[in-house]
Amino acid sequence: MSAAAPSYRVALLPGDFIGPEVLDAAVEALAALAPRAGFTLEFERHPFGGNAYDTHAHPLPEATKEACAHSDAVLMGSAGGPVGDHPWNRLPRELRVESGILGLRKHLGVFANLRPVAVFPGLEHLSPLKPEVASRTDMLIVRELTGGIYFGKPSENTPQRGLSTDVYERFEVERIARVAFEAARLRRARVTSVDKANVLDVSQFWRDVVIGVHQSEFADVALDHLYVDNAAMQLVREPAGFDVIVTANLFGDILSDLAAVIPGSLGLLPSASLGGPVGLYEPVHGSAPDIAGQDLANPVGAMLSAAMMLRHGLGQEAAADALEAAVKLALADDPTRDLGGSRGTSAFTAAVIAALPSSVEAVPA
Ligand code: NAD
Ligand code: IPM
Ligand code: MN
Repeated sequence: MSAAAPSYRVALLPGDFIGPEVLDAAVEALAALAPRAGFTLEFERHPFGGNAYDTHAHPLPEATKEACAHSDAVLMGSAGGPVGDHPWNRLPRELRVESGILGLRKHLGVFANLRPVAVFPGLEHLSPLKPEVASRTDMLIVRELTGGIYFGKPSENTPQRGLSTDVYERFEVERIARVAFEAARLRRARVTSVDKANVLDVSQFWRDVVIGVHQSEFADVALDHLYVDNAAMQLVREPAGFDVIVTANLFGDILSDLAAVIPGSLGLLPSASLGGPVGLYEPVHGSAPDIAGQDLANPVGAMLSAAMMLRHGLGQEAAADALEAAVKLALADDPTRDLGGSRGTSAFTAAVIAALPSSVEAVPA
């Protein structure tokens, strides 16, 4: 007796500039893959980002927020305007596009942002680092996503004073530490906690709580600590030395852009944000207004985010593996222009789809 094919509802948030371009590429690949892997995906698009402010007077309209919370997974492109002077950047803080992104993360309760950074064997030449330095890079950055200085109160911006507050509660550090240690158990069993405990009380607190969780629950995993300035240096000097990095919201934001470029381009890095009932999957890069509309956007970060959605959100491990393998084949053959290749977004997407297997056997759990 064969069970009915599973069906999943995926909320799509295209966003702005290259956001819709990379999201469409990921959706094309998913649509080609799903029937070959024996499941159905129902896609629903929702307004989000600067365009949603223009049409709905809010970057995260209430209906979008609710639709995301009632889906099986949320797949995002990227949102935001040009970094210089632009009407979206002059809006009150609560109407800024970036506040819409933060609001969605908070609404979904996705406190754990997983950002895997790997140099594919054979593709070391794509790295801006020397191939022997980039070689064997395979790390997971676990970024705390719903706390810290991004959300701390009080916060103000007056003509006389700017103020942001970096604050972590014990439960917030304990739960992100557990995510990191558990992930490490499935990898090389090493966690590096990154902080600024030599200067900041909030960081000394972070370090002490991480040590407590380690001693009481994860003594089988190796733990070390780095100050964030040194961590930035070590990431460039010897990236292959890292297994799992766990760090606060702001440090994770900065270090993940730095680490993203080790495999070759910011356009490559995916992410999964987990911890609530519905996961959020988005590339690490932004809306890249400088290259929008020119068929130049690298869709790999979005495609690998879709693969993370298949694995972490929908339990379709074999389909996730198949999509990652097809992306790797297309990269090895001829990558996008940001990596020195000749393909545009659409040609690269077609190459990924051509590299997908004709059928994907679900591996029994
Ligand atoms: P960005 O990531 O958009 O761009 C930085 C540089 O990387 C640019 O030169 C861009 O052309 C390049 N780049 C980025 N993605 C690429 C891709 N897929 N393929 C090829 N090249 C790529 O960062 P930024 O310029 O600092 O920010 C632009 C806007 O995006 C801002 O409004 C920012 O707030 C927003 N942003 C949004 C997200 C998100 O939606 N999650 C993430 C980061 C930044
Ligand atoms: C990211 C982005 C966001 C962040 C911004 C756009 C709110 O840079 O996802 O890395 O800082 O978290
Ligand atoms: Mn960022």
